[in-house]
Amino acid sequence: MLAMNYRGPFRVRTDEKPYPKILHPEDAIVRVTRSCICGSDLHLYHGLVPDTRVGSTFGHEFIGIVEEVGSQVTEIQVSDHVLVPFNIACGKCAFCKQELYGNCHESNPEATAVGGIFGYSHTAGGYDGGQAEYVRVPYANVGPTRIPPEMDPDDAVLLADVVPTAYQAAEMGGIKKGDTVVIFGAGPIGIMTAKCAWLFGAGRVIVIDHLEYRLEFVKNYAQCEAYNFRSMEDPVLFIKKTTDWFGADVCIDAVGGDAAGNAMQTITGRKLLLQAGSATALHWAINSVKKGGIVSIVGVYGPTDNLIPIGNVVNKGITIRANQASVKRVLPKLIDHVMAGRLNPKGIITHRLPLEEVSDAYRMFSSKLDNCIKPVLIPPKAKI
Ligand SMILES: NC(=O)c1ccc[n+]([C@@H]2O[C@H](COP(=O)([O-])OP(=O)(O)OC[C@H]3O[C@@H](n4cnc5c(N)ncnc54)[C@H](O)[C@@H]3O)[C@@H](O)[C@H]2O)c1
Ligand SMILES: [Zn+2]
Ligand SMILES: [Zn+2]
Repeated sequence: MLAMNYRGPFRVRTDEKPYPKILHPEDAIVRVTRSCICGSDLHLYHGLVPDTRVGSTFGHEFIGIVEEVGSQVTEIQVSDHVLVPFNIACGKCAFCKQELYGNCHESNPEATAVGGIFGYSHTAGGYDGGQAEYVRVPYANVGPTRIPPEMDPDDAVLLADVVPTAYQAAEMGGIKKGDTVVIFGAGPIGIMTAKCAWLFGAGRVIVIDHLEYRLEFVKNYAQCEAYNFRSMEDPVLFIKKTTDWFGADVCIDAVGGDAAGNAMQTITGRKLLLQAGSATALHWAINSVKKGGIVSIVGVYGPTDNLIPIGNVVNKGITIRANQASVKRVLPKLIDHVMAGRLNPKGIITHRLPLEEVSDAYRMFSSKLDNCIKPVLIPPKAKI
C-alpha cells in the first residue's frame, strides 16, 4: 500500500509499505478516505520530537471505512464509515475510566505522560499513522466512532483532533460569561478555539499571530479580533493596555514549541534544541493573563524542560491547565454542535492533495505557503 514515509527532518515522501496486519483480536484495519496534516505533525517534521524514527508513517487525523476486524471487535463492523480519535486508548485503565483518553496507561506502556497517538513517534507509542491507504487501529471497540450518514466527511475528519482539541482548550480555560479570552496562534487549533470560546460565553475573543492571511481568516470565520504581534512593541503590554491594565481573564497557548517571536527562545528551543521547543507564546500567555487568571495550553512541547517564567505563575496565582485532548470524551457533544450547524469545521480546509504529493503538502503547510490553513490528503484507494 501507499503510505507517507518519514526520512528525517524536513524530508518526507510516499512509498510502498506492507499492508497492516491485525496483531490483536481487538484490532481493526481501516481504509483511509481522508487524512489531515496537523500542526503537531510539523513538530515531527521539524525534528523537534524525540525518537521520531526514520521509516515511520505520520497521521493522527483520519477517517475511513472498516476493512477488517479482529475476532473480539464488537462495536464496529466491516464497511462502517468511522472517524478515529487521535488518542489510542484502551478504555479500561484507571485513566481511561476518568475519561483521560489522552493519558491511557496501556497504549503507551513505555511512558508515564502521554498515551498512544497514531503516527506520533515512539514517544507516543510508535504506532503507524493514517497518512496511508490503510492503518491498523488498536482497541477498535473504544476509539472508532461511526460517522452519522448525514455528516460531511470533511467535518468528520476534523472531529478526530482539531475540534475536540479546540473545544478542550476553551473548556480548560474555564471561560465564564463575558470573559476576555486571548488565543495565541491562528492555526487550525487557534481558529477553532476562537469559535469554541464563544460557545462558552466569552465576551471578547482576541487572536494573536504574525501571519496576516490567517489573522484575516480568523476575523471572518470566528468573528473575533485579530492582531499581528510583529506590529506591536510588546504583545504583553498590548494585551494589558487593551484590558484596562488587568490582563486577560483567560489566555490560551495554541502555538506550542514551534513558536516565533523571540530570538533567544527560537535559538535555544528550535535551533540548538537546548529546551523542548520555543516557549514564546507560553511566556506571553503567562505574562498577559490577569492575576488569578487561567492559562490553558494545548500547544505541544517536547517532553523535557522549557524556559518558562514560573516565578510569575506563582506570584500571579495563575491556574495552568493543559493536556492532549481527550477526543472520545467530548465527541458526542461536538457531533451535536456540528449537526446543528453551530460549528462548521470544514470551513477551515483550504487544500486537498493526493497522498502521493505528501512531500509538497508538508512543505506548503510548514512554510505557510499559498494561504494554507488546513491541508487534507486523499489516498488513491479513497474512492474505490
Ligand atoms: N493538545 C492537543 O491535543 C493538540 C492537538 C492538536 C494540535 N495541538 C498543538 O496545537 C498547536 C497548534 O496546532 P495548529 O495545527 O494550529 O498549528 P499551526 O502550525 O498551523 O499553527 C500555529 C500558529 O501559531 C503561529 N505562531 C507562531 N509563533 C507564535 C507566537 N509567538 N504567538 C502567536 N502565534 C504564533 C503561527 O504563525 C501559526 O499560525 C501545535 O503545537 C499542535 O501541536 C495540540
Ligand atoms: Zn492533530
Ligand atoms: Zn487506558
